[in-house]
Amino acid sequence: MKDLSHKKILIVGAAGGIGSAIARRLANAGTFLILADHDTKRLKTIANELSRSKGRFMTNIIDLQNPKEIERLAESLKKNGPKIDWLIHVAGAIGKAESIAQQSPTSITTMWAVNFVSAIYLTKYMSALLRKNGGIVNISSTAGIWPNSRFAIYSASKAALNNFSQATAKDFASTGRSCICICPGPTNTAMRERIAHDAKKHQNPDVVAREIEKIVNGSSTLRNGDVVVIRDNKKKLVSRL
Ligand SMILES: NC(=O)c1ccc[n+]([C@@H]2O[C@H](COP(=O)([O-])OP(=O)(O)OC[C@H]3O[C@@H](n4cnc5c(N)ncnc54)[C@H](OP(=O)(O)O)[C@@H]3O)[C@@H](O)[C@H]2O)c1
Repeated sequence: MKDLSHKKILIVGAAGGIGSAIARRLANAGTFLILADHDTKRLKTIANELSRSKGRFMTNIIDLQNPKEIERLAESLKKNGPKIDWLIHVAGAIGKAESIAQQSPTSITTMWAVNFVSAIYLTKYMSALLRKNGGIVNISSTAGIWPNSRFAIYSASKAALNNFSQATAKDFASTGRSCICICPGPTNTAMRERIAHDAKKHQNPDVVAREIEKIVNGSSTLRNGDVVVIRDNKKKLVSRL
């Protein structure tokens, strides 16, 4: 196993199913983690688990719907220690399975803000903190490629994230940093269980975490600008710049 103890990784959405799987895997690999989420209780639970297994981390409570909180996190990271290797943006909001007519304005705003607009502000405020040979991994969704009925806003926000990730990759090209977009298919987490009650049939979140570990340790086949699907435990490249 490669020594990753010098790597510093920011995971945004670290208290969720896929986020916590990534945190466990990267903590086991020895990286230093900055774990951010708005769910204080679940962030504490994952923090306690990592403490017991001697993981190295700090936690931050952040509401990604508020760009000022993203800016504040970037400022505090800048003061506390310089560079970050990878920012993994895994937070997401899906709302209910509803037609646009049924959807509440709050739910529409939340999905757009968490799934897409927060990626803009994270990129804006965090890019200067990212080391060369590191970068950003945005966790999108297969819904951003093949939209789902009754999930129009969720699908559109993820399609926007895919496009934004590739535009960012073009901006990063001359800097040595990368921006990679991973689109999971249905995955066994609380988010899937909330919308379809069939989570257990689907891939384990660790399948996404494994790919993130490869990106961090340099053994992934993915490169700057790639959009890749991870579905039914299989990885398939869908777009390469
Ligand atoms: N599970 C799937 O089937 C699936 C499939 C395709 C793509 N994805 C994507 O994969 C990513 C992770 O999903 P998951 O299944 O692990 O979902 P999850 O368990 O709900 O995790 C998402 C995390 O993001 C947090 N979050 C939501 N709004 C936030 C905000 N305003 N500020 C800070 N944190 C916020 C959530 O907290 P709360 O739970 O308290 O809101 C949760 O801890 C998401 O981007 C999702 O769209 C998931």
